[in-house]
Formats: sequence, structure tokens, C-alpha cells
Amino acid sequence: MDCKIREWQIEDAENLALTLNNKKIQDNLRDGLPYPYTVKNAEEYITSMLSADKDTTYAFAITVNDKAIGSIGVFRCNNIHFRTGEIGYYIAEPYWGKGIGVSAVKQTCRYIFEHTDIIRIFAEPFAYNTASCCILEKVGFQCEGILRKNAVKNGVVLDIKMYGLIKEY
Ligand SMILES: CC(C)(COP(=O)(O)OP(=O)(O)OC[C@H]1O[C@@H](n2cnc3c(N)ncnc32)[C@H](O)[C@@H]1OP(=O)(O)O)[C@@H](O)C(=O)NCCC(=O)NCCS
Repeated sequence: MDCKIREWQIEDAENLALTLNNKKIQDNLRDGLPYPYTVKNAEEYITSMLSADKDTTYAFAITVNDKAIGSIGVFRCNNIHFRTGEIGYYIAEPYWGKGIGVSAVKQTCRYIFEHTDIIRIFAEPFAYNTASCCILEKVGFQCEGILRKNAVKNGVVLDIKMYGLIKEY
């Protein structure tokens, strides 16, 4: 299925709220998102992304036929890591398994390497998150190691995989 990435629009709030009102998605993300996730929460997120520092925050809606069906972003690290960015993403459940994850991560990494001075993009999926690890490997990320017992999610201690993609050109 053909997908694109584009800047968020405030009109995406309803679809974003629909996407994030899903435990299966939130269970694979860091803590801190409200649940249930309201349209107001979504509007606040979109507003904050639109007003964020353009040199540190690269946030996009993932769209199919211009409908927002997911979210992806690269967030620049600071201090000595300022040329590194962390990528995060999620896709609405009805759109899983259609290659959208691979395509959105590929498009976003290409954008970052072409339009910013970031030279390393990394992701830290839970080690059990096969779909996310599979996406990263298909895009060319290398698994650089397993961070053992590096997170606690829903009261469970979890390993995390460290994936990195380096700008090669
Ligand atoms: C992870 C997620 C982004 C995957 O998106 P997606 O669009 O379904 O991914 P794709 O269709 O591009 O699939 C990528 C690969 O993973 C595989 N895959 C997808 N779901 C899978 C699953 N549940 N178990 C094992 N493999 C799976 C696919 O088969 C595909 O490989 P293939 O092309 O060889 O068949 C989506 O499930 C999601 O939003 N999950 C919740 C949030 C999350 O985990 N975010 C990432 C945090 S690091």
C-alpha cells in the first residue's frame, strides 16, 4: 500500500486519536501517553510538533491517500550526540502488515540524511517487538546489541535492542 510522510495538520487530530486509542500500540511505546487518548490530546501533540524547534524535531504524519494513519519522528539528541537522532513510529492497527512501516521508515531516514546534518539514526524497540525489528532490518539498520533489562513496561522488565543506521554518502 502506497504511503507518504508529510507535516502534521491540525485536522489530523481525530485520526491520530483513533490510532493511539489502542493498548496494542501504546504497549510498544514509552510511557507518558494518556490512555484513553482524546482528540484534545492529539490536537495538543500536533500543535507542539508544529511549533517545535525545526533543527531538533522532525515529526511527520504517515498518510495513505492523505489520511493520517500513523506517526513517525526523528528527535535530535544533545551534547556530544547532537549529530544523532532517535526514530520512533506507530501505525494504526487496520493498516498493519501492508509494508507501510518499512516504507515510512525508509522515507523518513532518507529525508533526515538529505536535509539535516544528522549522521546516525537509532531505534530502541523492545527485543520482543518482531515487527519493528523486522522493519529496521529491512531498511538497513544494524542491530548493535541487546540492552539487557533496560526497561520496565507495564511492570515487566524487558530487554531492548539497539539498532543504528549510518549515513554512508
Ligand atoms: C511495528 C509496526 C510499526 C509495524 O508496522 P507495519 O506497517 O505492520 O510493518 P510492515 O507491514 O512494514 O512489516 C514489516 C515486516 O514485519 C513483519 N511483521 C509485521 N507484523 C509482524 C508481527 N506481528 N510479527 C512478526 N512479524 C511481523 C512483516 O511480515 C514485514 O516483513 P515482510 O515484509 O518480510 O513480511 C506496527 O505494528 C505498530 O505500529 N506497532 C505498535 C507500535 C510500535 O511497535 N512501534 C515501534 C516501536 S519501536
